[in-house]
Amino acid sequence: MDANDMGNALEKVLISEEELDQRLSELAAQIDRDYPEGDLLLVGVLKGAAPAMVDLSRKIHRPVEMDWMAVSSYGAGTKSSGVVRILKDLDADVHGRNVLIVEDIIDSGLTLHWLRENLLNRGAKSVSILAVLRKPDAAKVAVDANYVGFDIPNEFVIGYGLDFAEDYRHLPFVGTLARHVYEVEGE
Ligand code: IMP
Ligand code: MG
Repeated sequence: MDANDMGNALEKVLISEEELDQRLSELAAQIDRDYPEGDLLLVGVLKGAAPAMVDLSRKIHRPVEMDWMAVSSYGAGTKSSGVVRILKDLDADVHGRNVLIVEDIIDSGLTLHWLRENLLNRGAKSVSILAVLRKPDAAKVAVDANYVGFDIPNEFVIGYGLDFAEDYRHLPFVGTLARHVYEVEGE
C-alpha cells in the first residue's frame, strides 16, 4: 500500500520510507558497535514492530536470535492504563540473556516500562529498548529507550506497523490520517 492507495484518507507523510530506512541503518550500526560479541535476543512486540524488526534485523551484521511477544494494555479507548496482559509469550527463556526489545512507538511509555521490568524479573542479564518513534508524552514515564528512530509530535500516526482499527500497518511510511477518517459521521 502507498500514498496513492490512500486517496484523501492520508493527511500527510510524516516520515518517508527513505528516512526510515536511513535511520534504521544508523541504529543497526550502533547496535553492532554496542554488542560486539556474545548473545543477543531481539524481542519484537507484535503486531506493530513487525516491519521494523524485519528491516532492522537485516541491517545487523552479527548473529541475533529473534522472538516475538504480543501484549495488550488494559485501558479505555486510546489511553493505556499501565496494566499489561500477555497475549503471546516468548518461546525463548530470557534468563541470563541480553535482550533488545523492538517496539513501534513509545507513547505514554507504560507498555515498555512494564515489559522491561517483566523481562528483568525473569532473570534477563540486560534489557535494552529500541523504538522507531517516540512521542513527547513519553517523558512522563521513565522509559530509557537506548535507540530511538524519531521523536514526533503528539499526533495519532499510522503506517510502518502502526494501525488505525487494524488498517494501514502495511504502509511503508509513517503518516497522519485525515480527520474525516476517525471522526464518525453524526457525532
Ligand atoms: P504506550 O504504553 O502508551 O507507550 O503505548 C504504546 C502502544 O500504543 C504502541 O505500541 C501502539 O500500539 C499504540 N499507539 C500509541 N500511539 C499510537 C499512534 O499514534 N498510532 C497508532 N498506535 C499507537
Ligand atoms: Mg504496539
